[in-house]
Amino acid sequence: MLSAALPPVNQRRRCLHRAASALAASALAASGALAQPARGLTLRFSHVVADATPKGLAVLRFKSLVEQRSGGRIQVLSYPDGQLYGDHDEMAALQLGAVEMLAPSLSKFGRIGFPEFELFDLPFLFGSVADVRRITQGPLGQRLLQGLSRHGLAGLGYFDNGFKQMSANRPLLVPADFAGLRMRVQASKVIAAQMRALGAQPVSLPFSETRQALASGVVDGTENPISNFWTQRMHEVQSDLSLTEHGYLGYAVVVNLRFWLSLSAADQLLLRLALDEALSYGNQIADAQNAQALKALRQLGSTRIHTLSAGQRTRLREAVEPVHRALASRIGASWMDALRGALKQAAG
Ligand code: LMR
Repeated sequence: MLSAALPPVNQRRRCLHRAASALAASALAASGALAQPARGLTLRFSHVVADATPKGLAVLRFKSLVEQRSGGRIQVLSYPDGQLYGDHDEMAALQLGAVEMLAPSLSKFGRIGFPEFELFDLPFLFGSVADVRRITQGPLGQRLLQGLSRHGLAGLGYFDNGFKQMSANRPLLVPADFAGLRMRVQASKVIAAQMRALGAQPVSLPFSETRQALASGVVDGTENPISNFWTQRMHEVQSDLSLTEHGYLGYAVVVNLRFWLSLSAADQLLLRLALDEALSYGNQIADAQNAQALKALRQLGSTRIHTLSAGQRTRLREAVEPVHRALASRIGASWMDALRGALKQAAG
């Protein structure tokens, strides 16, 4: 069963300590010391969710494949739970060379200058993860990754968590249920617009602050795939989980471009192959992880879990439909055209 674990306070203090040392290291990195010692290579992989999530497990699989295939010459240090960096500073840390790898959600690229990634946040756009893969594994997905070099990043691949559900201390089944609620969102203009269209007030917060914000009443509710909801113990502070499946949450693995280019072709290949395997493992287990988390929640019995009727889902979908048009100019007309083309092709 999935374990629900938050880092204890003293662990977070140690983490702050580590973050300070990492920032000191970043000064060295910025001064040109990005090249790794000839004998070995250490990759620091930072992310914000628990080990026992699809992302956490994929990172651990990557670590074990890389260390095994390089005979220990390449070491991967995994820092889950935002131990090193949170949503607001991890990209800067990567660009400075204080960490080598991240896997932020696709919703987090807009605020650092890639609004086109927010197309993945459009509500009720994808009918299934297979639809998403047609985008991420096709030319559009590859163009999105290539564009990351604009800000010194190299995109190495995508992987899924799955579909998001809404939570609060009340059922969220139709638009009227959202009236006046403060809903935590990731820093995505599309997700913020989605919440406004439903009548709620979006509050953008880093993932690592979300549970506390829910517990203290700073926000009333949020949206998550169930594995995140469970591993962050949000069920202790949210009485109702509504299975809306209204939007997709997935990730892109990114590295510092300068660091990546400093690696030998052989090391790049080893890392790419290990990553491809780890990401496809992550994709395989994502559904199961979310299903297990739902089962665990049902067994615990402390959260009321609501399944929407087709009519209720339609009302939510209709309420957020204007977001697609309203945010098209932020995402960019050419990206929207490419998206529509790819989805039409998939449907046809
Ligand atoms: C969130 O901030 O809600 C998610 O991006 C967390 C994650 O990485 O799954």
